[in-house]
Amino acid sequence: MATVAPQDPAAARGISRRTQSEIYRAGISGTRPLVPIDPDALEAAARKALSSEAFAYIAGGAGAEHTMAANRAAFDRWQVWPRPLRDVSTRDLSIDFLGRRRPTPLLLAPLGVMEMAHADADLAVARAAASLGMPYTLSNQASFPMEDAATAAPAGSRLFQLYWSASDELNASLLRRAEASGCEAIVITLDTHLLGWRTRDLALAYLPFTRGMGIAQYTSDPVFQQLVRERVRTGPDAAAEPAPPVKLTPKAVAAGVRIARKGAPLTGAGLRESLRSPLPRAAVETFLDVFSTPALTWDALAKARAWTSLPILLKGIVHPDDASRAVDAGVDGVWVSNHGGRQIDQSVPTLAVLPEIVERVGGRMPVVFDSGVRGGADAFVALALGATAVAIGRPYAYGLGIAGEAGVREVLRNVLAELDITLGLSGHTTIGDVGRDALREV
Ligand code: FNR
Repeated sequence: MATVAPQDPAAARGISRRTQSEIYRAGISGTRPLVPIDPDALEAAARKALSSEAFAYIAGGAGAEHTMAANRAAFDRWQVWPRPLRDVSTRDLSIDFLGRRRPTPLLLAPLGVMEMAHADADLAVARAAASLGMPYTLSNQASFPMEDAATAAPAGSRLFQLYWSASDELNASLLRRAEASGCEAIVITLDTHLLGWRTRDLALAYLPFTRGMGIAQYTSDPVFQQLVRERVRTGPDAAAEPAPPVKLTPKAVAAGVRIARKGAPLTGAGLRESLRSPLPRAAVETFLDVFSTPALTWDALAKARAWTSLPILLKGIVHPDDASRAVDAGVDGVWVSNHGGRQIDQSVPTLAVLPEIVERVGGRMPVVFDSGVRGGADAFVALALGATAVAIGRPYAYGLGIAGEAGVREVLRNVLAELDITLGLSGHTTIGDVGRDALREV
């Protein structure tokens, strides 16, 4: 598959023609795309490729998944209103975002525990994103330390997403590492101070973190390692609720081995020694205790400024008043998201609140949009409603599960190609030209 030079604004030009040409030419030899083009078929193929636990974790949402449905339904209110007979032979998808010209208005949302989809997880995603010049938001619950993702795709643009931990020392340490490893901004996720009521995961009694997955940013962190050692030395915090005992079954033993393997960075030893060490199990318990705090407030958030000189974006803003507050708080951007409907069921869909949030922000900072984007036409609608950039989530996890790095690249390339086509067919040549008048409200 041809790739475009990362970070070059001209690189995305002609992406739709190149992509269509590649697909149809390969078809002459009988080769079909690696991943289904249709979003529903993509999800169905991922369901087949993944374990039932992995698919439930990635595809599932909170409660009866009304928010997930509402995220999609909100797009039905808007129709693209084409204007032919304008010269659209040269189109430019580039945007200004976080102080740099970017080749596309797309970025990758942070998705944790990608090892459930593929062993190369974040490393594969980092490479695919870099090959298309799209910034990749590294999850705080990634499967590899952020430094490894930087090494995997040194030319790629990366942001780091923080879940505000109960330990300020840990927050500061994670942000220091993000800055040192070349991340361009910090994204603080505000909507997961409690874990959502995830119906599919609850039904399978499966949470990957309890198996030692998705905690690599923590086990590689010196402050976290110190917290774990203290826990082993002094026992769990007296105020903490005691964990219910785990029944010894073959599955529990397998989980224990996995936890020991994941905890190896703490023991600095091989699997045999890690199995005997209390540190890996203590790491999981420490993670579960500190990963998030429901006590976080606007005032506490201000501390982040002292921990980093990078731009700070707030992810999980869905109320215009909170967007105004973010402007007043002096952060550098807001990210309109309801976590893909994974946190609150019956929540407001993000596209429905985007225009009002854009209005409140009034161009004073970028507005990133996610939750429910499945193709290039969706991205077009969000951009027309004023989003500065649009983040892709679940679709790239599906591509990863189906075909690893190449699958992620194809999914992202397809979204980009469809966006380019929608831009041209609707009569526009640049993303900056696309405004509300490109749409008709139903
Ligand atoms: C997420 N999301 C998420 N968000 C975040 O800030 N940190 C994280 O670690 C994760 N992890 C995560 C894992 C999985 C499997 C999913 C599906 C989502 C939320 C994510 O960044 C984004 O907001 C949603 O994925 C957007 O919804 P759609 O478009 O994917 O439906």
